[in-house]
Amino acid sequence: MFPPDILLPGPTPVPYTIEQAMLTPMSDHRGGAFQPIHDAVYEKLRTLFQLPADGAAAVVPSSGTGMLEAAVQNFFGPGDRVLAVVTGGFGERFAEAASAMGLAVDRLSTDWGQAFAVEAVLERCRTTSYRGILVTHNETSTGVTNPVEALADALGTEETRPLLIVDSISGVPSIPLSMAPGNIDVLIAASQKGFMCPPGLGILLANGRALAARPHQRQGRFYFDLAPYFERQLPYTPAVSLWYGLNQALDLLLAEGEQARLARHRLLAAMTRRFGEAAGFPPLVEERFASCTVTALGLPEGMTPQALRSALAARGLQIAGGMGPWAQRCIRIGHVGAVTPQALFGGLGILAQLAPHPEAGLLAAWEAWRQHERP
Ligand SMILES: Cc1ncc(COP(=O)(O)O)c(C=O)c1O
Repeated sequence: MFPPDILLPGPTPVPYTIEQAMLTPMSDHRGGAFQPIHDAVYEKLRTLFQLPADGAAAVVPSSGTGMLEAAVQNFFGPGDRVLAVVTGGFGERFAEAASAMGLAVDRLSTDWGQAFAVEAVLERCRTTSYRGILVTHNETSTGVTNPVEALADALGTEETRPLLIVDSISGVPSIPLSMAPGNIDVLIAASQKGFMCPPGLGILLANGRALAARPHQRQGRFYFDLAPYFERQLPYTPAVSLWYGLNQALDLLLAEGEQARLARHRLLAAMTRRFGEAAGFPPLVEERFASCTVTALGLPEGMTPQALRSALAARGLQIAGGMGPWAQRCIRIGHVGAVTPQALFGGLGILAQLAPHPEAGLLAAWEAWRQHERP
């Protein structure tokens, strides 16, 4: 078990067995030692996300943003009209990536701290014909989880429905999402959050419908052309050590299981929220929209995020600040990936030293933990 020294919404703590796997000696990535790892990672990803046989995955040396860019480059062509559903800073980034790649981007924006309403998206789709809808599953800038599965359901199964492209970089696999038929079309993730690895791998899964809808011309993409990856080729040198780590991470994820993992993250969110309410760091997001991987907490009068974060860093704890319009309003506690209730409680203990009501906060977090139902 690791000390609670980072409670960030990425990078997240790396379990010891993953660190060890990443020390595997280098070998020819086109040779006999690496091939079984390569195949195993793709098979385990398929299992983890219930990816149908006609779907495919791509694991690419990149941060998450590279995969957002790859998604718009590979599934759309210049001039294609898409709806970008923007619920915060990362939704805005996805929209910007699409504009930069020459797509015609309409935005549907909510206030910060709100989730999108499925009906509002459907309404836009009734009046305009879109090739795709870009959504953020878990908006890390605010700590809001959006109803992407409800949206997928509501869009129906007609072949003409827009492609539903989901940035779940801070969501999956801590918050499970499925690629089962009729659900989302493209799922984007990255190694440094729920996958418990260091930064450096972008992960993208696409169903058969999305693969078939790709434009044929290759103009406008080169390094991020995902076609070879979908054929399980390695066009360029892979991040070999990270692949070993990801292979081990997938074993840990499959062993814990989806229900237990979701229950653990719900507990972590409840502990953080109850702590914040009682300690004097009021949560900024309504509970019905609240993410179970990152929580934005408001600050007591007169305290700035910068001062609080520096004081915590001096005590050995790193948390995130606010972003965009919330930069001066909040801190963000990340509880994504391998974080345990024990590690979180340790971190909250440090945060309590700077809280208006330390004892009340810790007791409330403790109560949330004690009341937790086992999955
Ligand atoms: C929802 C979301 N999208 C995109 C990104 C960008 O990922 P990266 O920083 O790996 O490029 C992040 C990173 O925090 C994120 O949380």
